[in-house]
Amino acid sequence: MHVPTPGRENFVDVLIIGAGISGINAAYRIQSQLPDHKYVILEGRGEMGGTWDLFRYPGIRSDSDLFTFGFAWHPWNQNNPIAEASAIKAYMNDSARLFGIDRHILFHHKVLSASYSSSDKLWTLSVEYKGAVTTFVTRFLVFGTGYYDYEQPLKTEIPGIDQFQGPVVHPQFWPEDLDYSNKKVVIIGSGATAITLVPSMAKTAAKVTMLQRSPSYIVSMPNRSKSIFHSILPGRMVSLLTRFQLIVKTRLFYLFCRNFPNMTKRMLLRGVHRQIPETVAVDPHFSPRYNPWDQRLCLCPDGDFFKSLSSGKAEVKTDLIDAVQGDGIRLKSGETLPADIVVTATGLKLRLGGGIRVAVDGAPFDLAGKLMWHMVLMQDLPNAAFLLGYTNASWTLGADASSLFLTRLLRMMDRKAVAAVIPRKDAGATIQPRKFLDLNSTYLNAAEKDLPKTGDRGPWKARTYYLADLIFSKYGRIGESLEMVKASSV
Ligand SMILES: Cc1cc2nc3c(=O)[nH]c(=O)nc-3n(C[C@H](O)[C@H](O)[C@H](O)COP(=O)(O)OP(=O)(O)OC[C@H]3O[C@@H](n4cnc5c(N)ncnc54)[C@H](O)[C@@H]3O)c2cc1C
Ligand SMILES: *[C@@H]1O[C@H](CO)[C@@H](O)[C@H](O)[C@H]1NC(C)=O
Ligand SMILES: *[C@@H]1O[C@H](CO)[C@@H](O)[C@H](O)[C@H]1NC(C)=O
Ligand SMILES: *[C@@H]1O[C@H](CO)[C@@H](O)[C@H](O)[C@H]1NC(C)=O
Ligand SMILES: *[C@@H]1O[C@H](CO)[C@@H](O)[C@H](O)[C@H]1NC(C)=O
Ligand SMILES: *[C@@H]1O[C@H](CO)[C@@H](O)[C@H](O)[C@H]1NC(C)=O
Repeated sequence: MHVPTPGRENFVDVLIIGAGISGINAAYRIQSQLPDHKYVILEGRGEMGGTWDLFRYPGIRSDSDLFTFGFAWHPWNQNNPIAEASAIKAYMNDSARLFGIDRHILFHHKVLSASYSSSDKLWTLSVEYKGAVTTFVTRFLVFGTGYYDYEQPLKTEIPGIDQFQGPVVHPQFWPEDLDYSNKKVVIIGSGATAITLVPSMAKTAAKVTMLQRSPSYIVSMPNRSKSIFHSILPGRMVSLLTRFQLIVKTRLFYLFCRNFPNMTKRMLLRGVHRQIPETVAVDPHFSPRYNPWDQRLCLCPDGDFFKSLSSGKAEVKTDLIDAVQGDGIRLKSGETLPADIVVTATGLKLRLGGGIRVAVDGAPFDLAGKLMWHMVLMQDLPNAAFLLGYTNASWTLGADASSLFLTRLLRMMDRKAVAAVIPRKDAGATIQPRKFLDLNSTYLNAAEKDLPKTGDRGPWKARTYYLADLIFSKYGRIGESLEMVKASSV
C-alpha cells in the first residue's frame, strides 16, 4: 500500500473518519505499526473527543473505569477511575499531542459521502468544509464514527409532552443556559444518563424525580483506585497493572453474572438496600426484571446516586405515564408529579457509519442486514473498517482490538501486494444471523433492523473479550471468507 499515487491532491493511504477515542486510538496504531502509511483524520466537529465533546449535561462522566477506557499506549495516570467529560477530553487531547496525532486531524471536515471504485480500487469522499465541498481520496477507509446519531435522539412517544409548558430537554442537546436551581425536575429514564443526572441536578434543584418504567441495576464504585502497587512501583507501571487487573476483574464479574444470575442479583440488590434510605423500597425501584448484564449495569461513583436519595432532594418513581400536563406528569397510578422541567433521558438513536452515504461502483450500499467480518470489516464492502467497541466492557478495548487487527490486515495486504480486501459470504454457506450487539435494551431493539448483523460461525461471529481478541488480532487466521484482489489485476 506504500506505492504513491502521483497527481492526486488530498490523497492518503488510510483515512479515518472521526476524532473520538476510537479514531485517535486507531491513528496511534497505524502510525506506530505502519509508519510509511500516510493517514489523516477527518472530524466534523471543531474539537476531538466525540461523545465527550458532544454531551454537555450536568455531571457527565464515564461509567467505565478510565484505566481500561483509556489508551493502552498512554495509560490513565490519575487516581480516580471515574472521570468527568472535561477530564476525558483533556486526557485525549494530551495523548494526541504527545504522539503527534493532533497534526493529522482536520477539524470541521464533515464527510458526506464515500464512493468506492473497483477499477482504481480507491475511495473518493465528498467532504464539507467551510460551506464548500472538497474531495479526498484514499485506499482504505476507517469509520471511527461511533454508533449513534449525533443529530437526532431516539424518538419516544410520551403522551401529552407537547402540552408541557416548561422546557423539555434531551441530554444530547442540553441548553447551555438552562437554569434549574430551585426548580422541580422530572427525569424520564433509568439508564446511565439518568443515574448521572439525578445526583448532579439535585445539588441545586428544589427536587429531582427519576421516573422510570422499569429499574436498572445500579452498582456503587469507589472513585479511587487503591492499588497495592502504588507505594512500590513507578506511576506508569501502576497504571498498566491496574488496567490489566481491571480487564480481568471485569471479565470475571461478567462471567459470574452470566453463570450465577440469581446469586449476583441478590448480591447487587443487597448492595443497594444498604445504601438507600429506609423509606425507599428495593422492589420495585431497584429490582430489574432482567438478569445482571442482560443490559448494561449502571455505575455510580462513591454511591452518589444513593446519597442524593438520602438527602431528600431526589426520589425514584416506578410507574407509567398517563399523560403529561402543563405543569406536571400524571401517572397511571393516579398520582401527579409536579414539574418545572422535564428531562427525557430515553436513549440514543443508534446509527452506524456517521450518516455517510456509501456507494460501491455507483450503487448505493446499505449496511442494514450485512454481516460484520471479525466485527471489523463488512460483508461485500471493499477496503473499509469499522471501529466498534464492546458493550460489556470498556468500549475502547474493543475498538483497540479492531485497530490492531486492522493494522495486521494492512500489513498483510502490503506483503502480498493485495490492493483490495472484500469479505464474502461463501456460496452455499448458511449463517444464522445474530444480533449486532449482544444487549437487550430498548434503544438497541429499536434500531436492530437498520444495523448490520453478526453470524453464528467463522469470521462472522461476534467477539468475546479483550484478551482473547487481542491474541486473535496478533496471531489469528485472517484470510477466511475474504476476497483478495491483487494490485496488478484490473
Ligand atoms: C453519555 C455517554 C456516556 C458513555 N459512557 C461510556 C463509558 O463510560 N464507557 C464506555 O465504554 N462507553 C461509554 N459510552 C459509549 C461511548 O460512546 C464510547 O465508549 C466512545 O466514547 C465512543 O468513541 P468513538 O470514538 O467510537 O465514537 P464517538 O465518541 O461517538 O466519536 C465519533 C466521532 O466521529 C465524528 N463523526 C461522525 N460522523 C462523521 C462524519 N460524517 N464526518 C466527520 N466526522 C464524523 C463525530 O463528530 C465524533 O467526533 C458512552 C456513551 C454516551 C453517549
Ligand atoms: C472522581 O474523583 C476525581 C478526583 O478526586 C474528581 O475530580 C471527580 O470529580 C470524581 N468524579 C465523580 C463523578 O465523582
Ligand atoms: C485541546 O487542545 C487545544 C489546543 O491544542 C485547545 O485549544 C483545547 O481547548 C484543548 N481542549 C481540552 C478539552 O483540553
Ligand atoms: C433463579 O430464580 C428464578 C426465579 O426467582 C427461578 O425460577 C430459577 O429456577 C432460579 N435459578 C436458579 C439456577 O436457581
Ligand atoms: C429481550 O427483552 C424482551 C422484553 O423485555 C424479552 O421478551 C426477550 O426475551 C429478551 N431477549 C433476550 C435475548 O434476552
Ligand atoms: C459479551 O461477552 C460475551 C462472552 O461472554 C460475548 O459472547 C458477547 O459477544 C459479548 N458481547 C459484546 C457486545 O461484546
